Amino acid sequence: MLTFNILALVILGYVDALRAEKHHSTSCDLSGARLNVPANQTQLIAPTYAPSYIGIGVGTQNYTCNATLSTYTLVGAYGEIFDSSCLYGTPSFESAPTVAYNVWYATTGVTVQQIVTILGLTHNSGVLGQQYYVPNPVGTGLSPKWDFTSSGATAGDPNAYVIGAKVGDLPSSNSSDIDDLMIETVEGELASLIFRVDTNGGQPPAQCEAGNITVKYTAQYWFFS
Ligand SMILES: *[C@@H]1O[C@H](CO)[C@@H](O)[C@H](O)[C@H]1NC(C)=O
Ligand SMILES: *[C@@H]1O[C@H](CO)[C@@H](O)[C@H](O)[C@H]1NC(C)=O
Ligand SMILES: *[C@@H]1O[C@H](CO)[C@@H](O)[C@H](O)[C@H]1NC(C)=O
Ligand SMILES: *[C@@H]1O[C@H](CO)[C@@H](O)[C@H](O)[C@H]1NC(C)=O
Ligand SMILES: *[C@@H]1O[C@H](CO)[C@@H](O)[C@H](O)[C@H]1NC(C)=O
Repeated sequence: MLTFNILALVILGYVDALRAEKHHSTSCDLSGARLNVPANQTQLIAPTYAPSYIGIGVGTQNYTCNATLSTYTLVGAYGEIFDSSCLYGTPSFESAPTVAYNVWYATTGVTVQQIVTILGLTHNSGVLGQQYYVPNPVGTGLSPKWDFTSSGATAGDPNAYVIGAKVGDLPSSNSSDIDDLMIETVEGELASLIFRVDTNGGQPPAQCEAGNITVKYTAQYWFFS
């Protein structure tokens, strides 16, 4: 409980910084924002125009142990996506997914939803939407979905989602972190192109043990129309 209270203080301190930078608005002008991708690679191709949304994803990547392969296979994910548009251009922007990860990773026994509450981001202010997996609408297996239909300014718009397909995959320099991705829209009108960058955590352990595990992660998502 003490640990939890200390963490809450750390989080609240960060939230104060967030609020100060946000000037109490729920989203900020992104017309000057541009995505930077690493040099000398062909997987991620940054648009030369501004994104419509930038958000920090906080959640889990879910795996099951495939006994045949003796490795973990991704079976799903769940994340809340917080609006980070007001951090763009501030020193906190690049570090925000890591700050969020450190809190999320160290805090046991709480759900993403509770983290959302602790961060002071209620469903209709700071939360843009959710990220999870659904059956692939045009093929087999699962596809990632970004769902803004019940949060923020897009709440109530049934088309404010993307079901996507990965078109670029750049492994992170840190093997604990999930890959940076470029995703094209297969279905939905929220965006036409999504990037997952600045990832923290989310990779399964190398040792496979029978059963399912969830691995905490954070990332920055950029949405382009
Ligand atoms: C990219 O490749 C060019 C040409 O090989 C090289 O000069 C440059 O240093 C590389 N940049 C990075 C960031 O690796
Ligand atoms: C485990 O991996 C093998 C080989 O790729 C595959 O045939 C099998 O369906 C997998 N099992 C599960 C439960 O995903
Ligand atoms: C993934 O794990 C989360 C818990 O972090 C859970 O809420 C979600 O339902 C799981 N999804 C799948 C497809 O396993
Ligand atoms: C690698 O990433 C993990 C999780 O994001 C972090 O705890 C660890 O400190 C990182 N290692 C290095 C060498 O940066
Ligand atoms: C593990 O997850 C898979 C896919 O979500 C599910 O079908 C299976 O029942 C789960 N197994 C256990 C032991 O919970």
